[in-house]
Amino acid sequence: MAETIQGMHRSHRCAEVTTSDIGSKVTLMGWVQKRRNLGSLVFVDLRDRSGLMQVVFDEPAIGAEGFEKALSLRSEFVIAVCGKVAKRTAAVNENLATGEIEVIAEELRVLSEAQTPPFPIEEGINTKDELRLRHRYLDLRRPDLQRNIMIRSRVMSVVRNFLAEEGFIEIETPILQKSTPEGARDYLVPSRIHQGSFYALPQSPQLFKQLLMCSGFDRYYQIAKCFRDEDLRADRQPEFTQIDMELSFVEADDVIDVNERLIARIWKEILDIDISLPLPRMTWQEAMDRFGTDKPDTRFGMELHDISEILKGCGFKVFDSALENGGSVRGINVRGEGGMSRKQIDKLVEEAKGMGAGGLAWLALSEDGAMKSSFAKFLSEETVSAIVEAMDAKAGDLLLFAADRNKIVWEVLGSLRVSLGKKLGLIDENRFDFLWVVDFPLFEWSDEQNRYLAMHHPFTMPFISDIELMNTQDKGKARAEAYDIVLNGTELGGGSVRIHQDDIQEKMFEALGFTPEEAHKRFGFLLDAFTYGVPPHAGLAYGLDRLVMLMVGADSIRDVIAFPKVKDASDLMTEAPTEVDAAQLEELGIRV
Ligand code: AMO
Ligand code: AMP
Repeated sequence: MAETIQGMHRSHRCAEVTTSDIGSKVTLMGWVQKRRNLGSLVFVDLRDRSGLMQVVFDEPAIGAEGFEKALSLRSEFVIAVCGKVAKRTAAVNENLATGEIEVIAEELRVLSEAQTPPFPIEEGINTKDELRLRHRYLDLRRPDLQRNIMIRSRVMSVVRNFLAEEGFIEIETPILQKSTPEGARDYLVPSRIHQGSFYALPQSPQLFKQLLMCSGFDRYYQIAKCFRDEDLRADRQPEFTQIDMELSFVEADDVIDVNERLIARIWKEILDIDISLPLPRMTWQEAMDRFGTDKPDTRFGMELHDISEILKGCGFKVFDSALENGGSVRGINVRGEGGMSRKQIDKLVEEAKGMGAGGLAWLALSEDGAMKSSFAKFLSEETVSAIVEAMDAKAGDLLLFAADRNKIVWEVLGSLRVSLGKKLGLIDENRFDFLWVVDFPLFEWSDEQNRYLAMHHPFTMPFISDIELMNTQDKGKARAEAYDIVLNGTELGGGSVRIHQDDIQEKMFEALGFTPEEAHKRFGFLLDAFTYGVPPHAGLAYGLDRLVMLMVGADSIRDVIAFPKVKDASDLMTEAPTEVDAAQLEELGIRV
């Protein structure tokens, strides 16, 4: 039954045919979206990656045999059609690019038949994720996913063109690398030849791109696959893609400048949106104080307020003990929600606990001027008015407070703010709020490891003025020449100026608790390279998946990756990871 396309040449994609083609012959090939029989006429919506075209089968034009074939067509059959473009006589479809025209078929070939798909191939249908991902090749036929994947491709082209214009050289770095534990968990690959030894898949091309600067390439970029064995989230996959770059003889401002122009170019060329430059910048400290996070969503207010001073010694144990232990009491003002029921407020308290809070205190100002609060008995009239003033509160507002170590207070109120912003519809979804977050701390305390870790990575340059803090009690106050680019509350990319001076690098390793021997064992090749003449350099990497996700308004990076993995890091379609043959393991010298 399957026919060939011998002698036929596709002349257009479906949606490439326009009213100016009326009267001419076209050859289209694609999938049957839908077939309708109207007595003496058969209508088929033909689909390809460009869109849909209505094809009409009318016996006088197609012949008896062709008409018979048309009657047998079903959804997802692959067909080739030759015919004449005509203006639609009835039922013009204004929602369709090709809604004013149709093709009157003169020849039909059925190139392949199809089973009934497990779910309809349509935009925006509500199908279980699991079923979609098991049949990802069908899922990918849906117009929304096709659009996302094609936009992703265009983003990559724009990036390549722009960076080439700016003098960047595209260089590939190895996928089989040395494991350099720092950051996320590595994916390991066993070596057959060196049994018991392992390669690691790259978490990023970081060390190699710095080596390329030592080699003199000056400006490098790569659209690089990266692998991190971390817990999955909506914006995290174990395998993802970075737009990665490194530049020599530059300072942070130079990296920021070229990247702002890159962002503006992408948004202009693909979305036709003008991004006004320069992008705003905010220090890490300001971001934490105002938004409780280093990736603030600045599309709405509800900023945090530190009211520790007002509540010092108020007698409420929860607040007092937080303040005595060096923490803080901070709050957010949920405008106009003072009338929220106790039940709803209790839900917020539970939500906050889920975010790591010990609890959540509240103060509600009703429209009639009355005040209710979970800690009313510790509130003097003066204290209430000081809080009201500090938080710019008005009748009808709901104030929520968390007291704890700063880290927890920020985490809880920052998350609650975003959650409430979404729930209360405060976010303008049509906005693209870009922001550079700068002046990150150099180190970050890890409760799990009970030591300081590099916040970005161990090659990140400290502020020259903060070098003296690096190996003191105050190392937590040292700032780094690191920057993140944030869009609508998502970290789109990050980078830093690198250390190229061996004395500073030594101080860094010392501060992180590496002996010189350990540092050499892990990063010796980089440190050696630096002894042969290293230029000052700096770089940045974007998460391409996140960038495209935000551009197309998807909820998860899964929707912009052709073959993504699910929460447990498996691929439902191929069923990877799978067990392997005993013989394969033996060859690798591995026992499971
Ligand atoms: P960083 O670790 O910040 O920096 O990564 C850069 C960007 O990559 C994206 N990203 C991810 N996207 C999807 N899934 C993941 N699991 C994932 N992890 C990270 C984020 C992030 O901003 N070598 C440095 C960059 C540099 O200093 O030049 C680096 O990898 O969007
Ligand atoms: P508790 O002493 O744990 O019973 O808490 C008394 C009140 O304080 C309750 O309303 C809690 O929700 C609230 N609360 C507890 N811990 C905190 C905290 N860390 N920050 C703000 N409020 C809290």
